[in-house]
Amino acid sequence: MTKSPVQPVNVVVTGAAGNIAYSLLWRVASGDVFGKDQPVNLTLLEIPAAGRAAEGTAMELADSALPLVNTITVADNAAKAFEGANAAFLVGAKPRGKGESRADMLAANGKIFIEQGKALNDAAAQDVRVLVVGNPANTNAYIASKSAPDIPGDRFNAMMRLDHNRALSMLAQHLDVPSTALERVVVWGNHADTQFPDISYATVNGEPLANEVDRDWYVDEFIPRVAKRGGEIIEVRGKSSAASAASAAVDHMRDWVQGTDGRWVTVAQASTSEYGVDAGLVFGVPAVGTGGTWEPVAGLEVSDFQRERIQANVDALKHEAEVADALF
Ligand code: NAD
Ligand code: LMR
Repeated sequence: MTKSPVQPVNVVVTGAAGNIAYSLLWRVASGDVFGKDQPVNLTLLEIPAAGRAAEGTAMELADSALPLVNTITVADNAAKAFEGANAAFLVGAKPRGKGESRADMLAANGKIFIEQGKALNDAAAQDVRVLVVGNPANTNAYIASKSAPDIPGDRFNAMMRLDHNRALSMLAQHLDVPSTALERVVVWGNHADTQFPDISYATVNGEPLANEVDRDWYVDEFIPRVAKRGGEIIEVRGKSSAASAASAAVDHMRDWVQGTDGRWVTVAQASTSEYGVDAGLVFGVPAVGTGGTWEPVAGLEVSDFQRERIQANVDALKHEAEVADALF
């Protein structure tokens, strides 16, 4: 029997020896992102110090004998790793510890995304899609995109799908419904404690959701609990989220490539000034996947309550962008 005649997609995962990659690589390799008939060439990018550990991950991937895996390559050179890349998961970055904010990671992580943005610009395939996971994810996506002037800005997304999934899960538990009963939930803004999980447009089984939940629970418990869930995980688990982050990365890239069939999801990409967000800030908004591109949901009515929370994220991201601009 010969290998599949379908041309493989070239997928790069950075931080390949880390916690998130240890789950993400197997999901990608199993067809959960690009489809069950789509072979993949996997490139595992790491820093030299973690190269041996990445080799070990590659050995385990090979030992899984996954039928969609065409090639596995371990790299410590971004220029080589991104050659011909159709998709890149930029995971490799330092996670925060207890008591730190994600923005605190900018000093340690920001420069990684200058180097990788440049390498993507020079080497990636024309259709490349880049999902930035490493924190602070929104501003790292801003940095990577700024470093890659030849790649359209909307090809750089930051991951806010984990926040979106957390919001869905908490609502589903509160209402005792499956998460599939919920539509039109969105998490606006930054993957940070200012983020705004919003149920203003949401429905449960097709009915307005706001009528089904107590306002005090929504404002005083739900919003802060979703926003601070990453910190809660670090507190309880002793390490930042890994399998749930990998699962969210799979959801995001799959929906980007394959579409959402009209469903809203949360996508952070460069703003085009909708909803009073400064152009260029990588901002979480509701979007529909059309199969290859995102169509942000435009023209929604926004109340003062919503506007105030959206603005808090604009302010935070403008500040982060100023810090990021100084890294260049
Ligand atoms: P980890 O420490 O387990 O792994 C990170 C890996 O990245 C390490 O192996 C490290 O050697 C590697 N790395 C560092 N610099 C690199 C570079 N220049 N090129 C390639 N690899 C590099 O961390 P983790 O738990 O996998 O988390 C990774 C990042 O994802 C962290 O910044 C974390 O805060 C973030 N994160 C984001 C979300 C989100 O929702 N956006 C969710 C969870 C975690
Ligand atoms: C998360 O939301 O779980 C990640 O961003 C990790 C963190 O630092 O909270």
